[in-house]
Amino acid sequence: MASLPSIEFVAQDAPAKGVVVVFSGKDASLPAATSEAIRSLVTRAATIGKFKGKLLATLDLVAPADVDADRLLIVGTHSDKELADEDWLKLGGVIAAQTKGAAAVTVRCDRTGGAVSADETAMMAAGASLRAYDFDLYKTKSSRKNGEDEPTIASTITFSVADVPAAKEAYTVQEAIAAGTMLARDLVNEPANVLGPVEFAERIAALSQQGVDVEILGESELRALKMDALLGVAQGSPRPPRLAIMRWNGGPEDEAPIAFVGKGVVFDTGGISIKPAGSMDEMKGDMGGAAAVVGVMRALAGRAARVNAIGIVGLVENSVDGNAQRPGDIVTAMSGTTIEVLNTDAEGRLVLADALWYCQDRFKPKFMVNLATLTGAIVVALGNHHAGLFSNNDELSDRLLAAGIGTGEKVWRLPLAPEYDKMIEGKFADIKNIGGGRAAGAITAAQFLQRFVNDVPWAHLDVAGTAMGSPANEYNQSWASGFGVRLLDRLVSDHYQAS
Ligand code: BES
Ligand code: MN
Ligand code: ZN
Repeated sequence: MASLPSIEFVAQDAPAKGVVVVFSGKDASLPAATSEAIRSLVTRAATIGKFKGKLLATLDLVAPADVDADRLLIVGTHSDKELADEDWLKLGGVIAAQTKGAAAVTVRCDRTGGAVSADETAMMAAGASLRAYDFDLYKTKSSRKNGEDEPTIASTITFSVADVPAAKEAYTVQEAIAAGTMLARDLVNEPANVLGPVEFAERIAALSQQGVDVEILGESELRALKMDALLGVAQGSPRPPRLAIMRWNGGPEDEAPIAFVGKGVVFDTGGISIKPAGSMDEMKGDMGGAAAVVGVMRALAGRAARVNAIGIVGLVENSVDGNAQRPGDIVTAMSGTTIEVLNTDAEGRLVLADALWYCQDRFKPKFMVNLATLTGAIVVALGNHHAGLFSNNDELSDRLLAAGIGTGEKVWRLPLAPEYDKMIEGKFADIKNIGGGRAAGAITAAQFLQRFVNDVPWAHLDVAGTAMGSPANEYNQSWASGFGVRLLDRLVSDHYQAS
């Protein structure tokens, strides 16, 4: 895999080398400590290059002879609005992109109109790493971007800061969140021949190194639990299903946990209701919800969050063979609800039905948030820029909306209502796994899930448009985005952490 830059923090008076990054404010204004040599060079170049210090704009200059650096990269930080957390990630991403290949980079964390805080510095460092992420595991020398046998040797990005210990401490938090995000990206980018349910569960088991307790349930255990909705999806694949349960106990012992639940369909052919060939390859990412759950557990453990959190993912392959589930089959979920499977391609809700029921039944959580690449309909409604949010709880919903704005992993709430619930009433069983054709497809899927939450405060995030295939940005160039990790981590840090 392409290696990540190594990140260092030094005091502001330490000598700089390589590429020196200086932040510019409104109208190319520079921090007070900027030398005269740099100041006069930037003033002239800014006029010629029409550089006004606008957020994320850059000015790339050869350093003047009397400055101890090779290049100067001036990066704009001016905005009429206060900078959001995501803006700092973007700044880090822009710095990484503009200094690619440089052996050494020094970022002067100082700007006009206010210092750069330890948290902001740490977010830039995380943004630089996230930008450098490149899933090139399966590319050999000739097709690698740098044409080299070995992945790029990372440069060192050094942040010169007012308070070194504070920046280092803030970075341990941001580094953990970035590691969780990149873990989620890896899982989604991996092809399904490499990452079946068993292999996915093995990757999850490795989280024990971070102090996460991991339990993996196999087929016979799922059968004993009567998870026939999940098992019905898995039965068309020679690769057996798994249910993975992760526990991070960072909070008070007697406190009820919060819970995250994920759809982990390692590949979705559609089953007997088979999908058309075009873009079917993208269904290797149909475990994006599960990947985000694993990623957020990695983040919480990595930053030793003071919270008790459960992560549960249902891992199956939705495939086709002589034993595959048929349209019209009726299965009984763990909850006892009977389900008519009218379309085997509406499989995610069947997997989640049992995972959600199991979660609330065993753990009695304060709330459950599930993430799933659940419907094409949500992509039609919201494209790649918001995940669909459905919830039975206004407080949880508002908190997710706010966390979305804070992190840039935005969500948009859609309704649940008895009228939509009626659309999934079954003819031969309690409910059916599809609604009324194309109408309200994302909502009827959410109504289905609600049947299995037993009135626990719950939110469903439909990430079909955001977990993968979203346009590249300053801090993500990869097909898989890792969407959901930063959002849920933020939900925890804003509201559910013991102080
Ligand atoms: N995994 C798909 C949804 C999906 C579509 C995810 C596009 C990512 C990108 C899901 O299992 C599915 O097939 N849903 C069907 C439901 C329908 C049969 C009611 C859909 O959306 O078409
Ligand atoms: Mn499907
Ligand atoms: Zn699916």
